[in-house]
Amino acid sequence: MNAMRLLQVILVGAFLIGLYFVSLFLPGTLDGPMSFLSVNGPVALEQKSVFWYTVGVSLFLMVVVGAVFLYAIFRFRAKPGQDFDVPEQSHGSAKVEVALIVASCLLLIVIAIPNAKALFYSASPPADKEAIKVVAIGHQWWWEFQYPDLGITTANELHIPVGQPIDIEIKSVDVIHSFWVPRLAGKMDAVPGQINRMWFQADDAGTYQGHCTEYCGDSHANMRFLVMADESADFDKWVRTEKKDAPAPASVQEINGHRVFMQGCNSCHTVKGADAMGVVGPNLTHFASRTTLGSGIFENNDDNLTNWIKFPKKMKPGNLMNLDQVNMVLSDKDVDELVAYLNSLK
Ligand code: CUA
Repeated sequence: MNAMRLLQVILVGAFLIGLYFVSLFLPGTLDGPMSFLSVNGPVALEQKSVFWYTVGVSLFLMVVVGAVFLYAIFRFRAKPGQDFDVPEQSHGSAKVEVALIVASCLLLIVIAIPNAKALFYSASPPADKEAIKVVAIGHQWWWEFQYPDLGITTANELHIPVGQPIDIEIKSVDVIHSFWVPRLAGKMDAVPGQINRMWFQADDAGTYQGHCTEYCGDSHANMRFLVMADESADFDKWVRTEKKDAPAPASVQEINGHRVFMQGCNSCHTVKGADAMGVVGPNLTHFASRTTLGSGIFENNDDNLTNWIKFPKKMKPGNLMNLDQVNMVLSDKDVDELVAYLNSLK
């Protein structure tokens, strides 16, 4: 390999490495809503520090090996006018080999210790603080959230109190999904027939975006969710509302809407207190208090809700909500009444 060719290879390598570092600083990478580097709470913080630590050790290694490599290339290359000779051949050096093995082992230990500590730290919530238990269940293509100690079941919007550990059991009813709220903690798979555990804690109130991160079929890309971290008074208020039955339909339109609902929607959806006990689709008891619909992909408003009922497969490819299956044929009036009823489920 001549010097020119070598220089080209080095320049291309430096360009690619540079590109990688520039990409780190593009808008969104460091501070976007899905950035695992813009962390909140102790679990994400621990995982971020171990990430940068490991990147640091790897960079150190890259610089040292790269420097030795470049030194060897330039120091021992054939000088202009010099005849090309085969260099002196040698075989094996116990000193060099032992030194390299020891150095590799040391580097592995230096990386492994903080990583193992972070793994154990992330595995279960601290024993000295009361944690809130949540069961997160992956469905094609939405998330069910149960609070077994509070008697609450909801979907796609997980409310948590600020400053308190959330102890999460992760399950799936169909295929493998993965539960990920990048700003709060690393991901955890939802595997059918298996219970995985993780925990996180949000230290600041706000909304944290989550996403399924294991390819799970047609609408994998639409399997989002939100974690809403509330101040503890707000969280208590939310819990009190969620524990209640759904409000009874009041207006004529709502009463008609409830009647339509009970002609088919009820076979898949639960509305507590309204005799609807289906468990295939999301629990809709307090549907109107959610900000999104369709697993976090649409704003919860009349237009989107109307379209969702009329054209479920257009709104979400592969949508398992199928009105034909429960022999529902809805007129525009039926849909309006259904929308009015669902909007009353505060
Ligand atoms: Cu669920 Cu991807």
